[in-house]
Amino acid sequence: MLDTMTVTKTLGALCGTFLVFLLGNWAAEAIYAPKKGEYGEKPAQAYVIDTGAAAPAAESGALAVDFAALLASADPAAGEKVFAKCKSCHKIDGTNGTGPHLNGVVGRPKASIAGFKYSAAILAVGSEAWTPENLNGFLENPKGYMPGTIMAFAGLPKPEDRANLIAYLSTTKP
Ligand code: HEC
Repeated sequence: MLDTMTVTKTLGALCGTFLVFLLGNWAAEAIYAPKKGEYGEKPAQAYVIDTGAAAPAAESGALAVDFAALLASADPAAGEKVFAKCKSCHKIDGTNGTGPHLNGVVGRPKASIAGFKYSAAILAVGSEAWTPENLNGFLENPKGYMPGTIMAFAGLPKPEDRANLIAYLSTTKP
């Protein structure tokens, strides 16, 4: 029964089976496996569904906190120097120039100076008031913040400059 021939045949059959698996696996890999680097090391995500997740909100929240901190330690005297960049168009003596006067502009309703010809862009938000926060956004990039504004000013890129300037503007009387 269990003679040498049976053992040999059984072993042969087993080895043959493994050989077939081995060759099959090798052939399948050659056909289907991605070439190295073809799809990158990690599989790329085909697309991302925008769920309006909270990440940007958290970012702007952090920015708002940063700006509040800057404003709390802002220096109005330094802000008066920054105001030199605005003086060609804005006065703080109750008279208008190229731009409306900025007396007491922090807390003042937007586009509220009688007799100044504002753009449609700013008149559209005339129901809002200027706050340190929205002045911060406007002064960083006027045309980006308010497309259509006729204020031809590139913006103040430094948050410190804006905080100091807004602190200075807050000291002016309406
Ligand atoms: C080249 C001229 C010019 C310069 C420089 C300029 N502005 Fe203006 N600004 C304007 C004009 C014009 C408007 C009216 C905007 C409109 O009608 O869209 C305006 C509007 C504003 C308003 C809104 C006022 C309101 O009554 O609602 C604020 C605040 C302001 N400017 C602040 C500043 C500050 C601060 C600076 C300096 C960092 C500055 N501007 C530099 C021309 C200028």
